[in-house]
Amino acid sequence: MKAVAVQEFGGPGGLAVVDLPVPSPAGGQVLVTTEAIGVGGVDVLIRSGALAAYGFQDGHVLGGEIAGTVAEVGEGVDPSWIGKRVWAFAGLGGGYAEMAVVPAATLVPLPEAVSPVDAVTLGSSGMVAHFGLRHARFAPGESVLVRGAAGGIGIMAVQLAARGGAGTIAVTTSSAERGERLRELGATHVLGRDGGGAGGFDVILDVVAGPDLPSFFTRLNPNGRLVAVGVVAGEPPADFGKELFAAFRKSMSFATFSADTVSQADRTAVTADLFTSGLRAVVHEVLPLEQAALAHRKLDTGEVFGRIVLTTRSFSGARDTSGA
Ligand SMILES: NC(=O)c1ccc[n+]([C@@H]2O[C@H](COP(=O)([O-])OP(=O)(O)OC[C@H]3O[C@@H](n4cnc5c(N)ncnc54)[C@H](OP(=O)(O)O)[C@@H]3O)[C@@H](O)[C@H]2O)c1
Repeated sequence: MKAVAVQEFGGPGGLAVVDLPVPSPAGGQVLVTTEAIGVGGVDVLIRSGALAAYGFQDGHVLGGEIAGTVAEVGEGVDPSWIGKRVWAFAGLGGGYAEMAVVPAATLVPLPEAVSPVDAVTLGSSGMVAHFGLRHARFAPGESVLVRGAAGGIGIMAVQLAARGGAGTIAVTTSSAERGERLRELGATHVLGRDGGGAGGFDVILDVVAGPDLPSFFTRLNPNGRLVAVGVVAGEPPADFGKELFAAFRKSMSFATFSADTVSQADRTAVTADLFTSGLRAVVHEVLPLEQAALAHRKLDTGEVFGRIVLTTRSFSGARDTSGA
């Protein structure tokens, strides 16, 4: 089977199309014939070598989020999954391949109306946005700022906040054109990356972190909550908590949130709900699996709004190779 592996950690040129034996599902796992594979920010971090501390080896096959059809089940897995269209999560690798082994516990059946491409666009990002907003104790009527709204998680957070009855939804983004697209998804206020001095938020869902994080504490209302769900601009300064203490009497909170702290059963249930929620899957581009390096180049340049999706030869829909 064809797969895409990291031959050399660093730039996208280190990705190579390789032929590998089809993996066998162990106990509790299933083998999925992939149709669509989501290209995530974490794939880029692994490829770049930024997560070297996790011990990824040369030849590592990237890819966490896949959709396709169950081909085989391992010991202890209900055989009635075989032949079912599913979304699944491979974890930190194995997804950029024509066949992928995934834990059966992550399987979510795909409703007829949801394409594999839409599934890998909505699934993981929507799940993180959902639980991130819950971690922030977001309630209807509250004002929300989504910082880094143009990525997969942010786009879903804007839509979920709108659906959850947010009073206002502000977003940070780098262009007016992206701002317009975010307004179509539910944003009510469009700000530049620095937040432009706007304030008065009950909740800030922050995908960015980085050196500017502390300045966003000052935008919170009394009892406001800032939850960091990503670090696309790197870690904040070591003394980032100073702003919180400087405004001690505002009772503000800061938290990180990782989906790793949510039970698999809850993640699966929320992902299944997302597929019947009517939320918009914003797909930036669909490329063949063999062009994974091009997908990574596009992510590296920052041109991507929404999700880049790879498809395999098993994919039943049209394949857009316009970016080739
Ligand atoms: N918490 C969890 O469980 C979980 C799960 C999966 C992934 N993650 C994390 O989520 C992040 C990826 O999320 P994503 O795919 O939604 O994000 P993304 O697409 O990589 O970035 C989101 C947006 O942030 C803006 N941005 C990029 N660099 C920036 C900078 N230096 N300063 C300010 N804004 C910047 C960009 O929009 P503009 O150009 O429009 O500003 C970009 O579209 C990663 O950090 C990943 O580790 C977390």
